[in-house]
Amino acid sequence: MTQIQTTRGLQPLAPGVGAEVTGIDLSSLSREDTDFVLDAYHEHAALLLRDQDLSHEDLIAFSSLFGDVDEAPEAQRSKAVPGKPQIYVVSNIKGDNGKPIGSLGAGEAIWHADMSNRENPPEATLLYAVELPPEGGDTWIAGMAAALEGMHPDLRRRIEGRSIKHDGTYNSGGFVRKGVVANDDPLTCPGTLHPAICAHPATGKPVLYLGRRRNAYVDGLSLEDSEALLDALWAHATQDAFCYAHRWRKGDLLMWDNRSTLHRRDAFNPDHRRMMLRTQTKGRAAPRAA
Ligand code: SIN
Repeated sequence: MTQIQTTRGLQPLAPGVGAEVTGIDLSSLSREDTDFVLDAYHEHAALLLRDQDLSHEDLIAFSSLFGDVDEAPEAQRSKAVPGKPQIYVVSNIKGDNGKPIGSLGAGEAIWHADMSNRENPPEATLLYAVELPPEGGDTWIAGMAAALEGMHPDLRRRIEGRSIKHDGTYNSGGFVRKGVVANDDPLTCPGTLHPAICAHPATGKPVLYLGRRRNAYVDGLSLEDSEALLDALWAHATQDAFCYAHRWRKGDLLMWDNRSTLHRRDAFNPDHRRMMLRTQTKGRAAPRAA
């Protein structure tokens, strides 16, 4: 493993989102390191820390700096690290019983913010790279403060004061969530309304809050107008200008703020193995309008 440099530093990853933090070993954080990381997280919405060598306990301890670490529900414990329900496995690897040890397989994960169908959606998501395929499986992050700032005023006016329904039917791999009946009608699918433009609770910055495209609905519009507006919003928000694409190395810790970013993952060859350890922190409040 590469030696971690000893001076703390911060390099933006892309103009619209993210920064790489250098010179910090997440397994032995000082008070100053912690303050530095928290400030960088609020400023850049996504952080990369490379060359980390983390135990499960280190990953949970670092994650808890951002809020209460969520646990996998009982029904999904088979996808968590044994004895560590706070750590979900994201992987295509199959266990001795022939069943996947983690979630999401090897396919593409479409653009989304995590579990935005909840009243209080989760806040930080952290992904730690344990095993990687030789190519593919890049993770993309889009900055929703930059997307809002770069939006044409006419488009922005069309969403001001409006709310969007965040679908509760499908997960980001396109699979129907447990206990839910498949439904492709944005008007009747289960979901939660959140303001289209939210004030970030920590920074007060206005951010675009889209969640995920499938089954989304702009409240109060005809389905046709809602679809046209959502298509325009998604085309705008996921432009390269607001994105960072991450090519993984073993030992990378990539994290993002779900309240101000979207993310997606490229597919990879299912014959190759990929294993990431994932934690997320609980939502403390419902998104509120800016
Ligand atoms: C996710 O959408 O949380 C998974 C991202 C990844 O596997 O890189």
